[in-house]
Amino acid sequence: MSVEHEIAVISAVQAMAALDRGKYDVIPVYITKKGQLFTGEKLLDIEAFKNIPALLSACRQVTVVKEGKDAVLLDVKGGIGRRRPVAVMDLAFPIVHGTNCEDGSIAGFFELLGIPYVGCDVLSAALGMDKAVCKQVLAAAGIPVLPCVSFTAREWVEDRDALRARIGEEIGYPAIVKPANLGSSVGIVKVKTEEELFSGVEESLAYADKVLVERAVTSLREINCSVVGDADECEASVCEEPVMSDEILSYADKYLSGGGKSKGMSSLKRRIPAEIPPETEARITDYARRAFKALSCNGVVRIDFMLDGDNDNQVLVNEVNTIPGSLSFYLWEPKGVPYSALLDRLVELAFKRKRSRENLSFDFDTNILASGGALGAKGVKK
Ligand SMILES: Nc1ncnc2c1ncn2[C@@H]1O[C@H](COP(=O)(O)OP(=O)(O)O)[C@@H](O)[C@H]1O
Ligand SMILES: [Mg+2]
Repeated sequence: MSVEHEIAVISAVQAMAALDRGKYDVIPVYITKKGQLFTGEKLLDIEAFKNIPALLSACRQVTVVKEGKDAVLLDVKGGIGRRRPVAVMDLAFPIVHGTNCEDGSIAGFFELLGIPYVGCDVLSAALGMDKAVCKQVLAAAGIPVLPCVSFTAREWVEDRDALRARIGEEIGYPAIVKPANLGSSVGIVKVKTEEELFSGVEESLAYADKVLVERAVTSLREINCSVVGDADECEASVCEEPVMSDEILSYADKYLSGGGKSKGMSSLKRRIPAEIPPETEARITDYARRAFKALSCNGVVRIDFMLDGDNDNQVLVNEVNTIPGSLSFYLWEPKGVPYSALLDRLVELAFKRKRSRENLSFDFDTNILASGGALGAKGVKK
């Protein structure tokens, strides 16, 4: 249920193709735009997604239930009590992009099921999804970001003039207006003057309830870097420089170049490694690792930077993708890490986190409901 639905399908199919079948039984689960879960071998074939109704009719709709310690995929057909188990899930490997999933909701789903899962937990995923809050956390950790003014649709309606004045004073023009929680360049508008601000904000607010306004970097180079690891240790990949056809790296640049035959983020025109001075690269990889830790990330993320050509090529963190397109595998291959090895590492990190959480106690062995006193004293009238 996100504007990046199709991109997620591409990322997931790529990853399933790269997983080592000698080690793993891969059970594809597709989440439809309506939020239903389907499983079936056909989901391994990207071509099958050209006709979704036909694809779904060849798959089985499933649900997830907890049985003892296990999380089990059950066929929804057949009625309660007679539903056939399809598989027990040892590990969940979410490959989804955008709202309603990458924002921590899917991590929360697996936390509730109590099974190990790959990638960022609820907090880090949620931080990565809200660009305004993410900036605050990164700035507090001493990592350079562009300051912004952020507000909700309601605040814009009630306080438009005050916000316009603040934006004029604190940000200036040209400015960029963007939805706080979207991706793939959807709803991003460049406004050159105060007059354009109104229509720009309205346009952006059509996509999200909260938007932010920041200074437009007019002499811009974009550099991305992936990080893999956890709170104990993490490593940065090589850097890439995506190549854009317009001022703003658009959805079309990212996914539609090449005659509409998209292969996801991995097919974007890019320079790998980015042609940047070694000092700049060292600074970027250092900030990338520090940002990963500041947000308490886990697994593989991609941190996107801007080089501000008008300010001495100042390095700024633009945004953090906690489930990056194509899982950034193409940034690890040049480091000598094949995609299947990257996936192995992600699986290991997921089991490592599960083991360390199992050492925590989640039982506090008193049941205040059994004693009768605790609630009776104040909460329940006797
Ligand atoms: N402050 C800015 N100045 C100039 N260009 C920007 C700025 N912010 C974003 N952009 C352009 O818009 C693109 C998308 O913005 P980004 O913040 O990365 O959102 P998304 O999550 O949609 O990728 C960037 O890749 C860049 O080309
Ligand atoms: Mg981006």
